[in-house]
Amino acid sequence: MTAEGGGPFAGLLIEGAAAVATLAGGLRRGSSQAEVAIVAGDTAVAAWGDRLIAVGSAADVERLIEAGGYPLESFARLDAAGGLVTPGLIDAHTHLVFAGTREGEWQMRARGAGYLEILAAGGGILSTVAATREASEKDLLAGARARLDEMLANGTTTAEAKSGYGLDTQTELRQLEVIGRLDRAGPVQLVPTYLGAHAVAPEFRGRPDAADAYAAAVIGEQLPAVARQGIARFCDVFCEKGVFDPGQTARVLEAARALGLALRVHADELVPSGGAELAAALGCLSADHLAAPSEEGVAALARAADAGKPVVATLLPATSWFLGAHHFAPARRFIDAGIPVALATDLNPGTSPTMSLPLVMSIACLEMGLTPAEALVAVTINAAHSIGLGAEVGSIEPGKQADLIVWDVPSVDQIPYWLGGRLVRSVVKRGRRVFGRD
Ligand code: NIG
Ligand code: FE
Repeated sequence: MTAEGGGPFAGLLIEGAAAVATLAGGLRRGSSQAEVAIVAGDTAVAAWGDRLIAVGSAADVERLIEAGGYPLESFARLDAAGGLVTPGLIDAHTHLVFAGTREGEWQMRARGAGYLEILAAGGGILSTVAATREASEKDLLAGARARLDEMLANGTTTAEAKSGYGLDTQTELRQLEVIGRLDRAGPVQLVPTYLGAHAVAPEFRGRPDAADAYAAAVIGEQLPAVARQGIARFCDVFCEKGVFDPGQTARVLEAARALGLALRVHADELVPSGGAELAAALGCLSADHLAAPSEEGVAALARAADAGKPVVATLLPATSWFLGAHHFAPARRFIDAGIPVALATDLNPGTSPTMSLPLVMSIACLEMGLTPAEALVAVTINAAHSIGLGAEVGSIEPGKQADLIVWDVPSVDQIPYWLGGRLVRSVVKRGRRVFGRD
């Protein structure tokens, strides 16, 4: 393992930061949602191989390096030059692998068509399904590769990535294969999610029992093939009035759990649909969207968190924004109720064509009233817990993976402040500098 791509160094020492936001201390909720755990002054962060070994004042870090027997001359030095250092960002909800684009839906929405109306007419998700079924693995790989590079340039070092644009076994497996290949190639680490129940497949439409019949096919045919393939770590379902109801969602997720997959769910994106309640009842690691949860849904998530079985509320404000919605997920209510909040892009061609978590942080601050510190927690340590990697990534703590960002700005508050800015100067993944703008 080398610190600079191809160089002779086993270690990496980042010095000269204005401050280091370590995010140390585990999953955040309630008032701790705002705790970024800042180290200021003359700071340093040290990594050896792919792991962090020390963070703190420069003098303490040097002492720890010597006490650990690490040869100081084996450390590449990276000058943060007055920038902020944070953990690598974690995008906990993406539909990374797809073919085609959907800018045409803008016109339809401008004429008043709703998101689910477009889907019901065979557009929306289904038009991306048609394009994705047609696309070769090579083309899917190239498109996703380009988007991943853009995510990395915006500071994302780990991302969840879903299938869900195949809705048949062959294409779902092809999407997961692409995600697996991109994860192996790096540098961005991917957590694959199977989302066969993203919409009712075209072959089943028109039957009175379409959603039930398709959910049965997901359980009986797709899920066993996904488990045999062995790439997916999570199973997700679009639980929404008019798509899959809580009963169908529960059947799919229970079957997935029996096959060893962890659970997450698209919950209450557009109208209260019982998704938040179900996520709490099933012990999902994450409930995503939550722009329209019921009172009982919020209460159920709060009870789960109080009982030590937190379901992370992974909010996707770029989606509400892009759909022109006038209401956003009630993030402040979640925080006040002690529910841990994460933020993600929801990158997809229909409702959120963005690769930028800093932009999502800006929208969260502007439209949902998060503070910049709460938003940073939401894209680091809480996002790590949302995808089951809370012990590995999401904070700068000795023993964790050395995933770091050096920002062009000196403070947490300035990240969402520079709307759409290119603020990432360097990205380190597993101890190696994998992106730099110098
Ligand atoms: O999370 N809501 C369902 N799925 C995606 C959108 C997918 C699409 O429109 O292609 C979402 O917003
Ligand atoms: Fe989504």
